[in-house]
Amino acid sequence: MNVPLLDLGAHHGPIETELLQAMTRVLRSHFAVGMSSGTDALLAALMALEVGPGDEVVTTPYSFFASAGVVARLGATPVFVDIDPSTYNLDARAVESAITERTRAIMPVHLYGQCADMDPILKLAARHDVRVVEDAAQAIGAEYRDGRRAGSMSEIGCVSFYPTKNLGALGDAGMIVTSDDVLAERLRILRAHGAKPKYYHHVVGGNFRLDALQAAFLNVKLPHLDGWTRGRQENAQRYGTLFRETGLVAQGAVTLPAAAYDELPHGHIFNQYVIRARERDLLQRHLRQRGIGTEIYYPVPLHLQKCFASLGHREGDMPNSEAAAKESLALPIYPELTEDQIRYVAAAVREFVDR
Ligand SMILES: Cc1ncc(COP(=O)(O)O)c(C=O)c1O
Repeated sequence: MNVPLLDLGAHHGPIETELLQAMTRVLRSHFAVGMSSGTDALLAALMALEVGPGDEVVTTPYSFFASAGVVARLGATPVFVDIDPSTYNLDARAVESAITERTRAIMPVHLYGQCADMDPILKLAARHDVRVVEDAAQAIGAEYRDGRRAGSMSEIGCVSFYPTKNLGALGDAGMIVTSDDVLAERLRILRAHGAKPKYYHHVVGGNFRLDALQAAFLNVKLPHLDGWTRGRQENAQRYGTLFRETGLVAQGAVTLPAAAYDELPHGHIFNQYVIRARERDLLQRHLRQRGIGTEIYYPVPLHLQKCFASLGHREGDMPNSEAAAKESLALPIYPELTEDQIRYVAAAVREFVDR
């Protein structure tokens, strides 16, 4: 049996006609909202907040590169704060010690589809008068306390519609959400090379426009999002039950993803289902041999990346992120995964532990 990490063929098959109709509609009209990618959304968000050289942005070292990359691209400095080892999200209690007079913003990332602990971060930001940009690239629709949703808790939230996301376009796409009219207008201008009207440039922006075709595909997919997310959540439940029933959890061979807000229907939207496992690399190889696709998010934490060597970090500086980088493994979780496939994956993990 083959269990790919992601099966876009199975995902798009049932809505192929709708996707093609959307493409036809776009060919006859044109519209565009949002941003060209999650990365550009983050970049434009920081540009709109006028983050630049000399500024610091506090963020997590355990994320996709874009979260810190955009900070550095603007000449600002990413200041890393370690993660909470159970949720993989920024350790909110550790953020305050990283704030200096140069801090312009805090950028929490809602990793894998579960919100960072935002209340203490928002309180801290208000107390120190710094801005908050949420990297909600992986967390569209994820709920935090009181029904607040990822990306909507601060002034600016950034979403990615990269094909691997719960709501994925058929290529690159992204979106910024903001409740601030002035910021929204500034973002629209930045998105079009800083021009308003066309050819009259107030600031230097970029081409951050959302491709019209991708927008149309997203419109087709949007009504399916809740159902797909439910599918991912059910799959996560199945894995959890199987890993518990087969004793892998009690044995400490597999650590299940923490559900920090499991009282909420969208407390975790499982963009990724990430376990921790002993001998992770060997397990990955074993699963590969059994035809099972997995991924390591992320093998090198950002503070240890070569391009950030000038920040002077060493191994041991962010122990929770470094441990996660060594032990975490993402298993297939896409909504079309069958119960048989999930059982097959769980059995293959059991087989590895019993070898
Ligand atoms: C946490 C995080 N931030 C930012 C991004 C960047 O989004 P995109 O790939 O759409 O540029 C991603 C996407 O992979 C992500 O996972």
